Amino acid sequence: MKNLIRTFGSVLIIAILAVTFSGCSEYSSLDARHAKINALNGRFISENVDKKGSVATSEEEIDRTGIKTDPSEVLVVYFSCTNVTKRIAGKIAELTGGDIYEIKPADPYTIDDLNYNDDHSRATVEQRDAHVRPQISGSVEHWDRYSTIYLGYPIWWSEEPRILDTFVESYDFKDKKIAPFCISGGCGVGSSAANLEANSNGGEWLMAQRFRENTSIGDIKDWIEEIGL
Ligand SMILES: Cc1cc2nc3c(=O)[nH]c(=O)nc-3n(C[C@H](O)[C@H](O)[C@H](O)COP(=O)(O)O)c2cc1C
Repeated sequence: MKNLIRTFGSVLIIAILAVTFSGCSEYSSLDARHAKINALNGRFISENVDKKGSVATSEEEIDRTGIKTDPSEVLVVYFSCTNVTKRIAGKIAELTGGDIYEIKPADPYTIDDLNYNDDHSRATVEQRDAHVRPQISGSVEHWDRYSTIYLGYPIWWSEEPRILDTFVESYDFKDKKIAPFCISGGCGVGSSAANLEANSNGGEWLMAQRFRENTSIGDIKDWIEEIGL
C-alpha cells in the first residue's frame, strides 16, 4: 500500500511539473523566461547563426492549387537572425509565387546581441522598451504594387522584435491585406500581431500563425487557404 501511495505521489508531482513548464504562461519573470528559452531555443542559435546564403529552396512538392492571390501582388517580408524565419518565408514565397524582402537591420545583430541569458544584451534591452525602433537598412521597391503582405518574424521575449515595429511604421498599409506569421521555440503569437496592427496605419490584418521550425509546405498551405489568400 505504501508503495502504491509513493508511486501515485511521484506520478502526481511529475504531472504538475509538466503542466507548469509547458506553454508560455511562465514567462512572467525574466529568470523563468531565460530558463525556458534557453532550454527550448539555445540550439537554434548555435546551429543556425553562422549559416548564410539565400533562402533555402524546398525539396517538398509545391502544389499551388487553391492559392488565390495573383503572385505579382504578393510580397513576403521577413526578419530573421538565425535563419529559421527565413526558411519559412522562402517556403511561403515558393507557394505563393510572390516576391521576397528581408528586413535588414542597419546595425546587424551579433551572437552576443541575441544572448537572452544576458540581461544587458541588445535584444533583451530593446524588448524591455516597446518604444525602441532599431533602424532598417534599405527599403522595399514598388511597395504600391503589392496588395498582400506576408510578414514574418521570430518571437523575442514573447513579442515581435522591435525592428518589426520600425517596419510597420515605415510603410502605408491601407488597402493591403497583411498575414503575419512568427516562429518561436515554444510561445504562440501572443500579443505580437496585435501590437503590429496597432502600430500600423491600417490595412486588413488577417489571422496570424505561429509555425514550428520544421513546418511543412502542406501546413503553410492550409493556413493560407484558411485566411482566404
Ligand atoms: C532574444 C531572443 C528572445 C527570444 N524569446 C523567445 C520567447 O519569448 N519565446 C520563444 O518561444 N522563443 C523565443 N526565442 C527563440 C526564437 O523565437 C527562435 O529561436 C526563432 O526560431 C528564431 O528565429 P530566426 O532564426 O528567424 O531568427 C527568442 C530568441 C531570441 C534570440
